[in-house]
Amino acid sequence: MAFLAAHVLIGLFVYSSTVKGSSQLQARVFLTFNELREIKTSEYYSISHHPLDYRILLMDEDQDRIYVGSKDHILSLNINNISQDPLSIFWPASGIKVEECKMAGKDPTHGCGNFVRVIQSFNRTHLYVCGSGAFSPVCTYINRGRRSEVRVFIHSSRCESGKGRCSFNPNVNTVSVMINEELFSGMYIDFMGTDAAIFRSLTKRNAVRTDQHNSKWLSEPIFVDAHLIPDGTDPNDAKVYFFFKERLTDNSGSTKQIHSMIARICPNDTGGQRSLVNKWTTFLKARLVCSVMDEDGTETYFDELEDVFLLETDNPRTTLVSVFKGSAVCVYHLSEIQTVFNGPFAHREGPSHQLIPYQGRIPYPRPGTCPGGAFTPTMQTTKEFPDDVVTFIRNHPLMFNPIYPINKKPLIIRTGTDYKYTKIAVDQVNAADGRYHVLFLGTDQGTVQKVVVLPTNSSTSGELILEELEVFQNNAPITTMKISSKKQQLYVSSDEGITQVSLHRCHIYGTACADCCLARDPYCAWDGNSCSRFYPTGKRRSRRQDVRHGNPMTQCRGFNLKAYRNAAEVIQYGVKNNTTFLECTPKSPQASIKWLLQKDNDRRKEVTSEGFFFSAKLNLSEI
Ligand SMILES: *[C@@H]1O[C@H](CO)[C@@H](O)[C@H](O)[C@H]1NC(C)=O
Ligand SMILES: *[C@@H]1O[C@H](CO)[C@@H](O)[C@H](O)[C@H]1NC(C)=O
Ligand SMILES: *[C@@H]1O[C@H](CO)[C@@H](O)[C@H](O)[C@H]1NC(C)=O
Ligand SMILES: *[C@@H]1O[C@H](CO)[C@@H](O)[C@H](O)[C@H]1NC(C)=O
Ligand SMILES: *[C@@H]1O[C@H](CO)[C@@H](O)[C@H](O)[C@H]1NC(C)=O
Ligand SMILES: *[C@@H]1O[C@H](CO)[C@@H](O)[C@H](O)[C@H]1NC(C)=O
Ligand SMILES: *[C@@H]1O[C@H](CO)[C@@H](O)[C@H](O)[C@H]1NC(C)=O
Repeated sequence: MAFLAAHVLIGLFVYSSTVKGSSQLQARVFLTFNELREIKTSEYYSISHHPLDYRILLMDEDQDRIYVGSKDHILSLNINNISQDPLSIFWPASGIKVEECKMAGKDPTHGCGNFVRVIQSFNRTHLYVCGSGAFSPVCTYINRGRRSEVRVFIHSSRCESGKGRCSFNPNVNTVSVMINEELFSGMYIDFMGTDAAIFRSLTKRNAVRTDQHNSKWLSEPIFVDAHLIPDGTDPNDAKVYFFFKERLTDNSGSTKQIHSMIARICPNDTGGQRSLVNKWTTFLKARLVCSVMDEDGTETYFDELEDVFLLETDNPRTTLVSVFKGSAVCVYHLSEIQTVFNGPFAHREGPSHQLIPYQGRIPYPRPGTCPGGAFTPTMQTTKEFPDDVVTFIRNHPLMFNPIYPINKKPLIIRTGTDYKYTKIAVDQVNAADGRYHVLFLGTDQGTVQKVVVLPTNSSTSGELILEELEVFQNNAPITTMKISSKKQQLYVSSDEGITQVSLHRCHIYGTACADCCLARDPYCAWDGNSCSRFYPTGKRRSRRQDVRHGNPMTQCRGFNLKAYRNAAEVIQYGVKNNTTFLECTPKSPQASIKWLLQKDNDRRKEVTSEGFFFSAKLNLSEI
């Protein structure tokens, strides 16, 4: 306990960026579902009071629509206001299929419906959509309608089989990417749910898939996401990346372990000529690691990948952010991922041997290289690949080195919390003192946390939970999330419905400059009158913001700083001998308190409170 003496005593609230055990961080502001609606920064939409398993599957910022799949419905919502003139198509599974599904013993409410899991932009006028069709997947084209016309949003009567495009079981994830009117899906291709595949369909060329029942390629995968990502400047070198977790049998063949993986293929892969016919000849995969190293050197893994977000930075090194259960957020440089795919292949001498780096000759072109790309200009298709390249891929699809995150550790860790993160979206915000990454983390409790990541060095952990927003009632877990920086909106789905919420609501931080400054929200700054959205135009010099330090003393001189002093309620509650007890109640549990002492006209000195933050003792005889 510290003893201080003062004529002027100021309790200065500084958000701590060095909280040890950051797993217990609290949000500065918590807004309930009703509060969010009252301050008009959110909209909620659902088509029924019954839960319908909504998923936001496509966002079209050019046409101002977001497309949502649910049980038996496809929705087209206005991106500016999701409750304004929503359009929907009723697309149930056929009565016969529903009966067959029930007869087969599947869950009538959570299985025997048409759960829409694929919505892709097909061409300028049409979407391509697939649903589980009561364990008999179906796909169709939807006329998306034009902006100028009266909106037509209808599906053609033509339905086709969705086998190889959408999983039969709606509780088994389906991921997809559409490239040049070809659909790339990661799903289970059979009714029993034993045959997992990465499949190319809807193609004028041959359909291509992963090697069937080959656990070296896919071992009971749970697909998480898929993206087309460029590689270098040649468009022919772009690859489709699939993110998934898989269950592995260890050497003894019994206990199973979960690993998170990245696999990639070249979209123009048409399979091999003699072997791997109609199978990928460019399929490679690598393990994605997100772990913490204890002081004694043991590594604890966050094994279960939950979601990924691909962040396009100005810097061409695209960054990938992912959420693991437990929960941790890890950040990877794409260049690091590519380095692993350009590194050694994993090799196993026999079933009971360890994996080692492959030491033998690697055939040309290097397995995994795209045909027609910068490295194989003479080979236009994978059918021209030499046999040894194809054979090598079949037996060595795994890279030896795992992919580690930036700084080899998570950006954020949450343990011992009563929630888990389920989804992530990231925005890049230009503030007065630099550019910040703001993370929106959806939880399994119906909330979204808005977290700002501050510049770090080895001694600082650098994150603040700016807001926690209850976007759904009844703790409904977040199932999908999309962000529009253009619209400054976040769109979130759950079993219950869809919520749209603004990325910022600056006025809630208070009516004083100091409140605004202390909030440290990179979206917000004090404009001389109120806390409002900040755009760094360089013109408005009166704007006050300090995300890095949150120090109102430097920012708010001349603006109602007095109000801020009052904000820190300092209560003198007892004088004993010459010692007085002062208590300061911070507005946020995230705050730590700094006591400053000023004797007459001396410089202010900080007084250390040795860990006892919330009250301090004043020894008057020291004055
Ligand atoms: C969104 O649309 C609904 C329905 O038209 C309306 O009640 C609501 O006020 C609108 N919200 C905003 C923020 O304009
Ligand atoms: C888009 O695809 C649909 C379905 O194949 C087709 O009917 C339509 O004419 C196509 N539109 C354009 C602009 O090519
Ligand atoms: C695939 O091949 C077509 C035709 O050769 C080419 O136009 C396209 O760029 C290729 N796409 C990719 C992603 O390699
Ligand atoms: C790291 O940050 C702390 C707190 O901001 C600072 O005191 C320290 O000097 C910094 N260290 C380095 C190496 O930059
Ligand atoms: C006040 O100070 C005196 C001398 O330091 C001490 O004997 C006495 O116990 C103190 N009284 C209280 C209530 O702390
Ligand atoms: C107050 O400070 C004086 C001078 O440092 C010290 O002698 C005295 O013991 C302190 N009083 C208490 C109650 O600790
Ligand atoms: C309190 O402080 C005053 C002035 O420093 C001193 O004269 C007085 O003796 C002190 N009383 C006690 C109980 O320490």
